[in-house]
Amino acid sequence: MRVIQVENYEKMSKLAAKIISSQIILNPKIKIGLATGSTPVGLYEELIKLYKEKEISFSEVLTFNLDEYYPLKNSHKSSYHVFMEENLFKHVDIKISNTHIPNGEAENPFEEALRYEKAIEAVGGIDLQLLGIGINGHIGFNEPSDYFEKETHLVDLSKATLNSNAKYFDDRESMPTKAISVGIGTIMKSKKILLLASGTSKSEIVERMIYGKVSPKVPASILQFHNDITVILDKEAGKGL
Ligand code: GLP
Repeated sequence: MRVIQVENYEKMSKLAAKIISSQIILNPKIKIGLATGSTPVGLYEELIKLYKEKEISFSEVLTFNLDEYYPLKNSHKSSYHVFMEENLFKHVDIKISNTHIPNGEAENPFEEALRYEKAIEAVGGIDLQLLGIGINGHIGFNEPSDYFEKETHLVDLSKATLNSNAKYFDDRESMPTKAISVGIGTIMKSKKILLLASGTSKSEIVERMIYGKVSPKVPASILQFHNDITVILDKEAGKGL
C-alpha cells in the first residue's frame, strides 16, 4: 500500500485528479470504477476543470460505478445515477452508453447483480478503481460480515450505513435498506486502486484498514493484499497513523 498524506481535502482531490487524469492520458480507453459519497466530489470537480482546460477527454473512457441503492428509481434525486450525472457526467464528454451503474429499478436484483458482474467481466475488468471508505470499513457497499462477498450482490445495508447516509434522503422511510454492490473480489481484481479518505470521522477506520487484521469485519482491510493500491488521506483522516 502506498499511503500519501496531504494537508487538506482540496489537496487530496487535486492529487487524485492528477493520478486519474494521467491514467486517462496513458490509456484513453481506460475502464474506471467510480465511487460516490461526499469524498470524491472535489476530485470530480478537479477532473471537470481538467476536461474544460482540454487536458483530458472522457470520450472513450468506460466507467462502472460501485453501487446503487435498491430498490430506487434511477431518477430519484438521491440515487447514484443522479449523483454521477450531476457531479461528473453532464459536465464532460463521456458517452452515457459507456457509463454503467447497477440498476436500482431492476425487477430481479439477483439477476441484475449477475448481469452487472458479467458486464465488468466482458470488458476485461477494471483498470483503475476509485474507492472511498465507510466509517465501518465498507468499500462500495460491502458491509462488515463473516465472509468476503466475491461478486456483485444484493446487500442489506448496516445500521451504521443507514445512519450515516440518511442525510441524503428527505426522510428515513423513503430510504432503501438494500443496495446492489460490486463484490470484494470484483474490487480486488482491479489492476490499480485509488482510495481517498478525508476527515476525523475516518481516522480510526483508516488505521484499522492499513494496520489492522485482515478480516471481513473490516472489509477494506483486504486491500492490504492488493499489489497496486494508493491511499490518499487528508491530515484528519491520517491522524491515527
Ligand atoms: C457510501 C458509498 C461508498 C462510500 C462511502 C463513504 O455509502 N456506498 O462507496 O465510499 O459510503 O461515503 P462518504 O464519502 O460520504 O464518507
